Amino acid sequence: MDGDVERAEPRVLAADEPAIAEAASILAAGGLVGMPTETVYGLACHAFDPRAAAKVFANKGRPSFDPLIVHVAKASDAATLVSGSRGFAPLGPALAGLVTRLAEAFWPGALTMVLPKPDAVPGIVTAGLETVGVRVPAHPVAQSLIAALGERTGTTGAVAAPSANVFGGVSPSRAEHVRVACDLVLDGGPCATGVESTVVRPMEDGTAAVLRLGGVSVEALAEALGEANVRVISASADDHEASTGLASPGTTLRHYAPRTPMRLVADRAALLATMGAESSAGRRVGGLGMGWGSRPASPRGGDALFEDLSTTGDLTEAAANLFAAMHRLDAAGLDAIVAQAVPEIGLGRAINDRLRRASR
Ligand code: TXA
Ligand code: MG
Repeated sequence: MDGDVERAEPRVLAADEPAIAEAASILAAGGLVGMPTETVYGLACHAFDPRAAAKVFANKGRPSFDPLIVHVAKASDAATLVSGSRGFAPLGPALAGLVTRLAEAFWPGALTMVLPKPDAVPGIVTAGLETVGVRVPAHPVAQSLIAALGERTGTTGAVAAPSANVFGGVSPSRAEHVRVACDLVLDGGPCATGVESTVVRPMEDGTAAVLRLGGVSVEALAEALGEANVRVISASADDHEASTGLASPGTTLRHYAPRTPMRLVADRAALLATMGAESSAGRRVGGLGMGWGSRPASPRGGDALFEDLSTTGDLTEAAANLFAAMHRLDAAGLDAIVAQAVPEIGLGRAINDRLRRASR
C-alpha cells in the first residue's frame, strides 16, 4: 500500500506556545498538522472542514471507507458535539449512562467511543457512517491545540486525526516518525502509551463492544463496566464483521506493517529457530520480542539485530517502545523481521494485535 504515497519530510517545531498557536491557525485555514497524543501522533485537520479531511485521506493514501476519529478537549465537548448538550442525556437513558461511565473512567485517555454522528461532522470524516469515533486525548499539547482551534473558529474545538503514518504502515510514536505531507509537525516528545486508542462502541443493551484493542486494556474496561458487559470483537475482525455487522473498518486489513516482511512466532525458541534458518539462507534478519533479560545469541553466521521491548517484561513499557522498535528494524535494511508474541494480557493483547496485523 505504501508505495503510492511519497514520503515527506515535514517541518517540525518543538510544541511551545507560539508553535501551538501557529498550528491552530494552520488548522483553522484548512491545513494539516502532525499532532502528538499520548497514544501515537495524529495527522490532524479541522473536523468540520470536509476539504481538509479530503487532504488527510489523500496524503495518507487512506481508503475513503475508513473513518477518522474526532478529538475534542474535554468530555463535555464530546457531549456538546454528539448531543448538543453538556451531558449525554439526549442519547437516551440506556446509552447515556454507559457513555457517561466510560467517559468518567477513561477520558482524557486512550479510549475512542463510537457514538451517533451529528450533522456538524461532515460525511467524509466518518466515511459515510451514521456514527463518529470520538476521543478526548490526554496529551497536553493535543488539548491546547484543540482548545486554541475552538477559540479561533468560535465553535467546539474538534480535530479529526488518523494516526500520522502512510496507510497500512507503522504508526508514529515520535515526531520524527511522521513522514506524511503536512504543514507542520508539533514535537511533543515520545508518546507515553505507544499503541493507538481502544475503540469501543457503547450499545443500547448496556454492553460495550471492543472494535479495536488498544491503550485501555480489556481488563480495565471490565473493571469499569463488569466483565459481562465487555465484548471483544476485534480479535478476529474479519469473521466477526460478517456475523455481528459491527466493525471498525480500519481493523480488517494488513496494517501497522513495516516495509520489511515480518513473521510472528509464539515463543523465544521459535524466534531463534526462525532467525537461524533465515540467516543460514544468507538473509539479514532482525528479532523483536520482550523480556529476554539478556540479548539472545545471534543466529549462526548472522549479525542479527534485536529489539527487546522491555528487558523486565513490562507490557506498558513494551507498548510504549513497540512502534519505535519497528521503525528502527525497518530502517536497518533487513531482509526479514521475526517477532515473538507477548503474553495475551493487559496491553499485551493490543501489542499482539498489532504484531499479527503487521505480519499478515
Ligand atoms: O490513538 C488513536 O486512536 C490515534 C490517535 C491519533 O488518536 N488515532 C488513530 O486513528 O489510531 P486511525 O485512523 O489510525 O484509526 C482509527 C480507527 C480505525 O480502525 C477506524 O476504522 C476506527 O478507528 N473508527 C473510526 N471511526 C469509527 C466509527 N464511526 N465506527 C467504527 N470504527 C471507527
Ligand atoms: Mg492508524
